[in-house]
Amino acid sequence: MLRVEPTGQILGATLIGVDLKQDLQPRDFAAILRALGDYGVLRFPGQWLDAPELKAFSARFGEIQVLRGNPNHEPGMPEVTILSNVKEDGKLIGAPDAGQSWHTDMTYSPAKGFVNVLSAWKVPLRDGKPVGNTEFTNTQAAAADLPADIVAQLTGVTATHDIEMFWEYMRREKNSQRPPMSPEMRAQRPPVHHPVLMKHPITGRNVLYVNPGFTTQIDGMPAEESAVLLEYLLNWVFQPKYRYVHEWSEGDLLLWDNLGSWHFARPDYGPDEYRLMKRCQVMADKIFDPAFVAQALAA
Ligand code: SIN
Repeated sequence: MLRVEPTGQILGATLIGVDLKQDLQPRDFAAILRALGDYGVLRFPGQWLDAPELKAFSARFGEIQVLRGNPNHEPGMPEVTILSNVKEDGKLIGAPDAGQSWHTDMTYSPAKGFVNVLSAWKVPLRDGKPVGNTEFTNTQAAAADLPADIVAQLTGVTATHDIEMFWEYMRREKNSQRPPMSPEMRAQRPPVHHPVLMKHPITGRNVLYVNPGFTTQIDGMPAEESAVLLEYLLNWVFQPKYRYVHEWSEGDLLLWDNLGSWHFARPDYGPDEYRLMKRCQVMADKIFDPAFVAQALAA
């Protein structure tokens, strides 16, 4: 029987008693959705899903994003991206620098991201402790504590999100070897606008939907005013009380709620300390359908 054990911190719970290789029973799926809304980052230990199984589990939550032109995926399966510094025959087998700066996945796209599913196959250890851990912030908790005048100011307001900002930051500041975005890539991914405050579809609570990776401005105000407000909001979310670190063990499958969090993969390991993760990024194409949520949660 599925059991949810919260970490007692601002995010995080461990879920045991379920085999994710099997078809999920509606009741287990409902429990997972509820836990996702409440705890944001869910750890399923000892789950070694192969690529088709990872894809099948992830697809329960919505359509899996396929990154066009992404060479770092499982052979024949573009839905499953490989994040890794492991080399075979002198060549990297995955993207070595993915996620190494604070962001929320896919806010740069018209279809928001719902969950990430990340499966740990190799975790680097130093002095017996994992490195390459993943940090999170809780943007539902941060929204709940916002001063009333800021909530009033943000109500009905949108922000612009642009993938190019993150892309160029990684090249400039993190020595990323990714090429500059081509005109074709830019045309495929123009900036988009999302409400700054949005209702979380599972909890019904407000979420502060801006992040340091992709949000470039608060819309409808002069640039300087927007920069000041955005900086205030980002610093608000960065407060230590909203932060959580997931320490990896091999075999962990981590499912996290992208609507209510930011994350950051710590680049604190060397080229000879091997990290290998497999990931599906799932879009929020189902979760904003109240019938889907009601039916799933009623199980
Ligand atoms: C990501 O940003 O999806 C990757 C996170 C990680 O590798 O820890």
